[in-house]
Amino acid sequence: MQFHGKTAIVTGAARGIGREIALMLAEHGAYVVVVDIGDTSEIIGKLQAKKLQGMALRVDITDYLAVEVAVREILDRRGSIDILVNNASIVARGTILTMSVEQWNRVMEVNVNGTYYWCKATIPSMISQKSGRIVNITSIAAKTGDLTAAPAYGTSKGAVTTLTRSLARQLAHYGITVNAVAPHAIETDMSAEWSEEKRSGVVESLPVKRMGTPREVAAAVCYLVSKDAAFVTGETLNVNGGYLMD
Ligand SMILES: NC(=O)c1ccc[n+]([C@@H]2O[C@H](COP(=O)([O-])OP(=O)(O)OC[C@H]3O[C@@H](n4cnc5c(N)ncnc54)[C@H](O)[C@@H]3O)[C@@H](O)[C@H]2O)c1
Repeated sequence: MQFHGKTAIVTGAARGIGREIALMLAEHGAYVVVVDIGDTSEIIGKLQAKKLQGMALRVDITDYLAVEVAVREILDRRGSIDILVNNASIVARGTILTMSVEQWNRVMEVNVNGTYYWCKATIPSMISQKSGRIVNITSIAAKTGDLTAAPAYGTSKGAVTTLTRSLARQLAHYGITVNAVAPHAIETDMSAEWSEEKRSGVVESLPVKRMGTPREVAAAVCYLVSKDAAFVTGETLNVNGGYLMD
């Protein structure tokens, strides 16, 4: 895989899975635009330390005007947007009884609207150049229903799966592919806080008997945005240690 000369946007790339996606794309030659609402100094420091190319933009992905301004800035600086990875997302805890309407709406705003906004703002330039790669990070929860999160989370990821398929159908003839990656049980800041009991329960439930790594998710994304994946669109690639095989 090589992405020299390509410009890639990765949302939610300040930490966790998004950070590794941004790093791996840059390691393979892409210029990465790291988008996050949070502090991006660590990822930018890592890119600079490895002499890789990229920049950070602080954007709340639920603000469509801010997304449009960011896309214009990227196009002005780089001339094209070749790869979009919609990774930013939030989780809500609880049940239908305990989750508030405000929590539901916020999960939908970030996970569904935020993904749609970046697609809407970037796709016109991909259509003009007759090429593009979009990968949306969903979750196993889109398929199983929520395992531990509140119902808004799985519902939002289900919506993103359907958006992925709809855009894949509508954009294929422009040379644009749209796919999803559905992770489960990936080692991140959140799982680092789990009790030993919870961790061993999760590990035991996985056929591979270990947690996944953010780099293993990043590798799946890199394949889907590569030239080699030109005939793959509308697909959701599981990265889940065999927990769900479908
Ligand atoms: N970690 C897992 O095991 C797992 C499992 C299934 C799916 N996923 C999915 O993988 C992706 C990454 O997960 P993670 O564990 O690295 O998450 P994370 O919470 O560590 O990182 C999410 C990033 O998104 C950013 N973000 C949140 N709201 C934003 C907003 N409004 N605007 C801009 N940025 C915003 C956060 O600041 C953060 O940097 C998510 O889409 C998540 O749903 C993760």
